[in-house]
Amino acid sequence: MSNKIYTTRKAFMADIPAILDLINKYAAQGIMLPRTEFELSEFIRDFTIILDGQKLIGCAALHFYGPSVAEVRSLAVDPAYKGTGAGRVLMEAIDREAIDFDLSSLFAFTYVPGFFAKMGYDEVDRNVLPLKAWKDCLRCPKFQACDEIAVLKRLKPEEPRKIEAFPIYAPTIALPKPTGH
Ligand SMILES: CC(C)(COP(=O)(O)OP(=O)(O)OC[C@H]1O[C@@H](n2cnc3c(N)ncnc32)[C@H](O)[C@@H]1OP(=O)(O)O)[C@@H](O)C(=O)NCCC(=O)NCCS
Repeated sequence: MSNKIYTTRKAFMADIPAILDLINKYAAQGIMLPRTEFELSEFIRDFTIILDGQKLIGCAALHFYGPSVAEVRSLAVDPAYKGTGAGRVLMEAIDREAIDFDLSSLFAFTYVPGFFAKMGYDEVDRNVLPLKAWKDCLRCPKFQACDEIAVLKRLKPEEPRKIEAFPIYAPTIALPKPTGH
C-alpha cells in the first residue's frame, strides 16, 4: 500500500477526455463497457474522480436507479496506480455520496468481486437486479453470455429488505430479443 495522499472530487466537463481515455483503454481489453463523449457529457454529474496532485488517476460513477438504490459503474484506476489504495479511496467517496442521498443499497456488475467484497459488497443472484438489463446490457457485446457478477451493498443494515420493496426488484421482466446488428 502506498503512502500517497490522494484527493477526490466530483468530475467537471474538462475531465471528460482523461476519463474516456481511462475507461476505453480497459474497454479495449473487454474489462469494461466502452463510453462515448456524448454519454460522459450526459452522465458527468455521476462521476467522482481521484487525483494524484493534478493528475486524474481513477474514476467511479454513482448512477441512480430510484430513491433508494444506485449502481456503481465505470470504476477504473489507472494501471500505474493499481494496488495503491486508490480504488478504496474512490469507493469510500462513492459511499459518502450515497449516504448523503440517503440511499439504502448500492449494486454493481463486475469481474472483480474480490475487490467489491473488500468494499463490503455481497454477491447476489443477477436476477435480483433485472432493470440493469434494460439499460447498459442491451448494447453490450456480451449481452447473450454475460459473465459479470452482481454484487450488492446494503448501506442501512437496519432496513435489510428495503431493496425488495423497490420496483428494481422485479424478476418477471422479460427481455426483448436482440436485434443482431
Ligand atoms: C478494481 C480496481 C478499481 C481496484 O483499484 P485499486 O486501486 O487497485 O484497489 P486498492 O489498491 O484500493 O485495493 C483495495 C483492496 O482491494 C483489494 N483488491 C484490489 N483489486 C482486487 C482484485 N482484483 N481482486 C481482489 N481484491 C482486490 C486490494 O488487495 C486491497 O485490499 P486490502 O485493503 O485488504 O489491502 C482496479 O484494479 C481497476 O481499475 N481495475 C480495472 C477496471 C475494473 O475492473 N473495474 C471494475 C469495473 S466493475
